[in-house]
Amino acid sequence: MPFTKDYFFRIGKTGRPQEYKYKCNICGIRILHTRSFSTHNNKYHPKEQTRFFPSSRMKPYYQDESVTIYNADCRDVLPTLEKVDLVLTDPPYGIADVWKGGGGHGWAKSKDESVLRNEWDARPPDSALMKTICNSATASIIWGGNYFDLPVSRGWLIWNKPERNFTLGEAELAWTNRDTVIRVYDANRSDVGRTHPTQKPISLMKWCIETAANNPQTILDPFMGSGTTLRGAKDLGRKAIGIELEERYCEIAAKRMSQLAMQL
Ligand SMILES: C[S@@+](CC[C@H](N)C(=O)[O-])C[C@H]1O[C@@H](n2cnc3c(N)ncnc32)[C@H](O)[C@@H]1O
Repeated sequence: MPFTKDYFFRIGKTGRPQEYKYKCNICGIRILHTRSFSTHNNKYHPKEQTRFFPSSRMKPYYQDESVTIYNADCRDVLPTLEKVDLVLTDPPYGIADVWKGGGGHGWAKSKDESVLRNEWDARPPDSALMKTICNSATASIIWGGNYFDLPVSRGWLIWNKPERNFTLGEAELAWTNRDTVIRVYDANRSDVGRTHPTQKPISLMKWCIETAANNPQTILDPFMGSGTTLRGAKDLGRKAIGIELEERYCEIAAKRMSQLAMQL
């Protein structure tokens, strides 16, 4: 069926310029439609592009009664999702070059891990993607928020790592859209049983969910990594959606989802 406003009605924006979500009022299929203009020889040339929602065709990599995982680029999946209660995520910071110079203590020394990490850490989210991420939920908690273009906020979260004098930061910061005071959580780095170079402690992600406003029931992590956010959400009896570019991390996350709840 061609795109025509007789059949399709607009259901929202995607965050990309001139791109809107439409739904067919006959069969319910959802599409993304972009309308832009260019000028040439003093004439307007409208350019229209229509594509299907990727997730309306995309099969989840893993699904159970509370968790759905997509092995995909979050830029393709996010515009297709319904709004959730909380986006809790830990995006790549884009410090690949710093990382290359790395060296020092613990896992910062590992050459293999620095190479692996450089591949995805070289692609940090830009401000348009950050906006889409924040619009995908009522509440937002973004780890590494001090690296990204985000609005002023006073409700920051701090993960304080009690160890001192190691190469990486002694604390990490999460931006939130909550107008409240700063909160601090103390936890050691999760070196034991770590399956991802920047794996967060599960207890930290559970604390974030419990600290968030309005008791969130559905949680989204568009940079899922090994699935720590999802595991934390599942342990707390919430629903969660994860998106991850790299299949090897989706596999690790899927295994973590199949394990019994952690006693943490
Ligand atoms: C900082 S790590 C998250 C680690 C996670 N918090 C954990 O505990 O395992 C960021 C992850 O985002 C993934 N990633 C990078 N760009 C992405 C994109 N455009 N869409 C989906 N995932 C992406 C990377 O592969 C990486 O695993």
